[in-house]
Amino acid sequence: MTSPILTAVAWPYANGPRHIGHVSGFGVPSDVFSRYMRMAGNDVLMVSGTDEHGTAIQVQAEKEGLTPQQTADKYHRVIAEDLQGLGCCYDLYTRTTTINHRETVQELFRALHANGYVAVQREMGAISPSTGRTLPDRYIEGTCPICGYDNARGDQCDNCGNQLDPADLINPKSKINGETPEFVETEHFFLDLPKVAPQLAAWLDSREDWRPNVLKFSHNLLKEIRERAITRDLDWGVPIPLDGWRDAQMKRIYVWFDAVIGYLSAAVEWAKRSGDPDAWRAFWNDPAAKSYYFMGKDNIVFHSQIWPAELLGYNGQGAKGGAPGDLGVLNLPTEVVSSEFLTMEGKKFSSSHGIVIYVRDFLSRYQADALRYFISAAGPETSDSDFTWAEFVRRTNGELVAGWGNLVNRTASMIAKKFGEIPTPGELEDVDRALLDAVEAGFETVGNLIRHH
Ligand code: MF3
Ligand code: ZN
Repeated sequence: MTSPILTAVAWPYANGPRHIGHVSGFGVPSDVFSRYMRMAGNDVLMVSGTDEHGTAIQVQAEKEGLTPQQTADKYHRVIAEDLQGLGCCYDLYTRTTTINHRETVQELFRALHANGYVAVQREMGAISPSTGRTLPDRYIEGTCPICGYDNARGDQCDNCGNQLDPADLINPKSKINGETPEFVETEHFFLDLPKVAPQLAAWLDSREDWRPNVLKFSHNLLKEIRERAITRDLDWGVPIPLDGWRDAQMKRIYVWFDAVIGYLSAAVEWAKRSGDPDAWRAFWNDPAAKSYYFMGKDNIVFHSQIWPAELLGYNGQGAKGGAPGDLGVLNLPTEVVSSEFLTMEGKKFSSSHGIVIYVRDFLSRYQADALRYFISAAGPETSDSDFTWAEFVRRTNGELVAGWGNLVNRTASMIAKKFGEIPTPGELEDVDRALLDAVEAGFETVGNLIRHH
């Protein structure tokens, strides 16, 4: 049985080149999965792009003396080259700064607001006491109140994967000048997650074959569920599409509310470009369609809680009811496929500490297939795994070259020596049939492993 399959690949921030830790989570696994699913006869749509709004881009822009737009332009190109070099075959790799994406984000925001799942509340926002400047998200860092990690940010902790509010951080410091921020009252739109919590729980209960870590983590998140601010005091992002807010210079939609909508907006853009503007519906409105989301584990909460909550509210399927928006009833994820982390010689990858192997440096010396093979064979699928050069050499020389390469080479040279061409097969004997059956069975075994990742 074949069905439409959406491969939804996490959108890298346009703030730097990708390293092999990044692509071991979202890049290679999603591409291997999509290639297999296409070969097996399914209609696959694989979309992604660069995540270009929010403070991740602003902080990098300030570091390089560029505008956020220039930064996004620069790294969109760099990252697209990294992914192309790796051989990832996206049907569309786009950006969150397109007009199409902005309109789709605003459509979701408006419909969620009309259905009563988004409303204004007051909260405490961080500002710089010396300059009065607002310090949302990545402009402050501090200790995570949940796991104790030192470099947690105003909105999330990459170590334990939890969402945070800026006022939760212990010992918060401005990323700009190290000073302790002041907290002042500000108004923001909040997504009413408790109003979709029972529906989220029911949906998660129906997801049985996810990787156990991902499912367990997602169930746990429900225990702490509360309303979350989905706008910010900054000027880089999608404007709020409501009267009285549209022209506010320092109010924008939160980057994570915006980015996850990319999976939908990219499908819409792909359909427009393909000449059949409704073609995206087969992947989003048809309840038989399946969708697989690939990412590293620090992204789970946004895909197993925030994104399905946006979809439930948009569809009018939460406790507040409501009507589906103009795009119709949209499918919730079939599976959130999250990897664990890849370390390098035992250490956590960190571009800022120079513990890093960039994809482009890797590819300047080795073929993409060698890296793809390493990640497929020894990547962080269900637990953290370690990249070492010694292990890379051993797998490449021992398994790819000696194991696989020799088999192909010997077979080809034997055929050349004995026949000078590929011979026409004669009558099949039992041994031939047994061999062919064993090969076919391999496709089944491997196919099932890929299907169930
Ligand atoms: N930019 C995010 C990160 O690198 C991932 C965004 S995935 C998205 O962690 F789909 F939400 F865009
Ligand atoms: Zn934490």
